[in-house]
Parts: sequence; structure tokens; C-alpha cells
Amino acid sequence: MSDPGLGFVHRFRTGERPGAASLLLLHGTGGNEDDLLSLGESLAPGAALLSPRGKVLENGMPRFFRRLAEGVFDLEDLRFRARELADFVADARKTYDLGDSPPVAVGYSNGANIAAAMLLLFPGSLGGALLFRPMVPLVPDRLPVLDGVPVLIVAGQHDPIVPASQPQELAELLRKAGADVTMHRSTAAHGLTREDLEVGERWMKGISVRR
Ligand code: MLT
Repeated sequence: MSDPGLGFVHRFRTGERPGAASLLLLHGTGGNEDDLLSLGESLAPGAALLSPRGKVLENGMPRFFRRLAEGVFDLEDLRFRARELADFVADARKTYDLGDSPPVAVGYSNGANIAAAMLLLFPGSLGGALLFRPMVPLVPDRLPVLDGVPVLIVAGQHDPIVPASQPQELAELLRKAGADVTMHRSTAAHGLTREDLEVGERWMKGISVRR
């Protein structure tokens, strides 16, 4: 059963590797807390998995923040929701005893956008981020300090939703803040493919998350 506690309906799977980084799984528009569980298991076998459901409904479809149109975000709501999610993560780390390191976010589409917003607004909330098909969610007034925080951006070469310039601009913004950004363009559209998974698995094996 999904747990409605901590302010978000969510799933939690206990990790089998004490000390290993946990994953924060963030689904896309219309998804839910179950969507990315098997992806998380493949990316980091045995890692603790924390998977909330976005609280904003768009025509009945869960999202992590409001948008005014496709690719046009409600920035006030985005700031509010990024803080709310960062608070949820902080509470969940205590409740589930997730150790000293913040989780690595794995976000797809809308989930990647809220993860990028968390990095830009609340840099201590995540230990790293794997962003599938992200856009630039917002440009913060002041750049955060993301020294060495590992980020993988996986764009789709034929993505009809995310313009090619967006992942590139996000990479530049995060690099300016000091993040260790790797960029990959998959031979894919907006949906995820085997190539995305393989690139994600390789990156996940190579990162070390700061405490
Ligand atoms: C968003 O709204 O975050 C992006 O447009 C991606 C999506 O369609 O969810």
C-alpha cells in the first residue's frame, strides 16, 4: 500500500546496502509513486527507494508543480512545491533512517524538472540527480553552490516536447553553480528507452555522493 504519511502519498522500499545512497524517484505528468520503482531497482540494485506522488492535479493527472501551458511553468507554485518536496525529503530521511547523505534524485520529465528546481533552490536537499528529459525549470536569483554534485542529464534527440536548447541550457546553469554535469543525448523521443537505462546505470555506478 502507498503510505499517505509525511505529507505526500509515497512508497518507500528499505535498502539492502547500508550506507549506500538512497534514490528519490520523481515521476512524469500523469504518473504516480509506482512508476519508477523498477527503474530505481535497475539503476541502483538494493538502494533504498523513496517515491512520492506529485500533489498537483492537471485534468486528474498528478504532477509536481503547476504549469500554465506546456513548457510554461507557474514559477510561484514551482518554488512552493520545490520547498515542500525538500521538506518531505528531510522528514523522510529521519523517519526512514536514510543515513547521512541526501538521496540522489531520479526524475523523468516533470519529475526531472522539479528535481532540477530542488538543486537550484535547495542545493543541500539532494546528493545528485539523474534527469531524464529535463527543461530549465527556473533561473534562480542567486546561483546555488553545487560544488561537485553529480548530475546526469539525458535528453532525447527526437523529443517533441523538450526543445534541444533546454537540456543544454540547464547543463550550463548547473555547471556554473559548480555541479559535475554529464550530458547524454539518446536516440529517442520523450519516452525512455533501453539506451537511457544503460547510460543511467553506468553513471550511477560511477558517482560518489557527498556526506
Ligand atoms: C513539465 O510540465 O514539467 C514539462 O512540460 C514536462 C511534462 O510534460 O511533464
